[in-house]
Amino acid sequence: MSSSIPSMFQTPGPGDLANSDYPQPTPPLTIIIFGASGDLTRRKLIPALYDLKVDGLLHPETRILGVARSPKTHEEFRGELRSAVQTFSRSPDHIDLFAEFEKGIFYHSMTFDDPNGYTAIRTTLLSDEFRKPTEGNVLFYLATQPSFFVPIIRNLKNFSLSNINEEPEETPHPFTRIIIEKPFGRDLATARDLNREVLQVFSENQVYRIDHYLGKETVQNILVFRLSNPVFSSLWTNTFVKSVHISVFETVGVEGRGGYFEEAGILRDMVQSHLFQLLTLTAMEPPVAFEAGSIRDEKVKVIRSLKPVRTEDIPRSIVRGQYTVGEVDGVPVAGYRNEPKIPPVSDTPTFAKLRVEIQNWRWAGVPFFLTAGKRMSRRETLVHLIFKEFPFALFRLAGSPDTIPNELTIRIQPNEGISLRFGLKHPGGTFVIDPVDMDFSYQQAYRTQSPEAYERLLHDAIVGDSTLFARNDEVENSWSFMAPFLGDLTKLSPLRFYTAGTDGPEEQDRLSNSISH
Ligand code: NDP
Ligand code: BG6
Repeated sequence: MSSSIPSMFQTPGPGDLANSDYPQPTPPLTIIIFGASGDLTRRKLIPALYDLKVDGLLHPETRILGVARSPKTHEEFRGELRSAVQTFSRSPDHIDLFAEFEKGIFYHSMTFDDPNGYTAIRTTLLSDEFRKPTEGNVLFYLATQPSFFVPIIRNLKNFSLSNINEEPEETPHPFTRIIIEKPFGRDLATARDLNREVLQVFSENQVYRIDHYLGKETVQNILVFRLSNPVFSSLWTNTFVKSVHISVFETVGVEGRGGYFEEAGILRDMVQSHLFQLLTLTAMEPPVAFEAGSIRDEKVKVIRSLKPVRTEDIPRSIVRGQYTVGEVDGVPVAGYRNEPKIPPVSDTPTFAKLRVEIQNWRWAGVPFFLTAGKRMSRRETLVHLIFKEFPFALFRLAGSPDTIPNELTIRIQPNEGISLRFGLKHPGGTFVIDPVDMDFSYQQAYRTQSPEAYERLLHDAIVGDSTLFARNDEVENSWSFMAPFLGDLTKLSPLRFYTAGTDGPEEQDRLSNSISH
């Protein structure tokens, strides 16, 4: 039996955006989006910028210059973005503001290797129409396939766009910054190359490596929950925690991104980025101060403390899977090998479960399980801690067959919240123990929609706060740890097939049951 007792978590009262923690309006600027006709721009970036506008956080003198290959006029581009905002923003009811928003939107068609294109961008940025109202502030956003990152960065240098403000270090204005999408490289060597290229053109404090999981309210709340509640902080160690399970289950497949996913696979697309962010926030030590440098220092230490995986460890450290034809939410879906742009013999994993260990004082001996899967039975992202049981089960002597481990679940999405499971006496004359849950729900407590991750991150990059972005050493260390998993694992960890719409390959339980090594 299980019951929910929401009222046992007291909430601080309804909150709204006006009370949110990033009320600082942005300065004026031009945002140049490379890849402006793509999926990310349409579904995330423009809706997020529009939501910032609706919340009064986007400076009225914000220019957006979209750059991509497809030919289209400014008007056509604005029309596409209007429907994107209506479909994907939090504020479709405030579409009346779009007329004002679109006055700052422009489009430039070019290929990323076209010298004339970069010259035209420079002329635009230096024109009075852009430079004066935006005070010269410029943010480049690389929303393209990763293979274009280096060529674009080189061209920003070659065509004097990276130094369009002669003194980029000058504060507070004008600034020149760059946001680079994930995945940042595809292994250690390419991440190093990319870091080298970008740091030849920009300084580290101009570079924002985005991982949108860090912009999610509930991901940020992992730190707040851990570090502002003594009850839970004191339990957050190997003395009490038996295992930690970090899972990102998705119902979606590759959604028309077959070409990209076939190259990336789940390990590069989800594990090295999003799951590692969840891992570091869950496991890091308290930072000396709540500011970018200190937080990033602690995150890097977690990654550097991961126990290196030797070739002989691989079979007990990873299970890889790929979905076959099935049903998700009652709708028939294709198997991965039948998706567009996927070779019929592909052995790219769409599911992975890793068992990792952190070799430090706090976590030695506690296995961390990182699971990511596409086309699963449900959409659910969780950080789940299972606590140790008492060595002596008192109530078993009194007739109870069960011991109930305490479990803490942080629900990142959907149904954002936190629940704590414990054992209680079943009413009656025996000492049978039932598991019950105390449950906190964001939706019930705050009754307001949290800002989308991209709102938070775009806002932070524009105001110059890099706390929620990855630093170069963080990225390189995570690729370094992942290296043994990125090679040909056909023999060491054969691909396991699972039906779309299920919970992944059965073999994953093999990892859960293995003892610490
Ligand atoms: P898309 O394939 O949808 O978009 C790619 C964009 O690049 C298009 O605007 C395309 O223009 C443009 N482009 C491609 N080749 C050229 C070229 N030679 N010259 C000029 N423009 C070109 O990709 P996404 O938007 O899905 O992804 C972009 C980035 O964002 C990737 O790094 C991805 O990993 C990341 N990301 C994406 C997410 C998503 O949900 N989509 C989520 C998180 C990260 P055109 O179509 O006009 O040819
Ligand atoms: C992206 C991945 O970074 O994150 C996608 O490229 C994935 O494959 C997406 O679907 C998941 O993001 P969210 O916010 O929907 O959990």
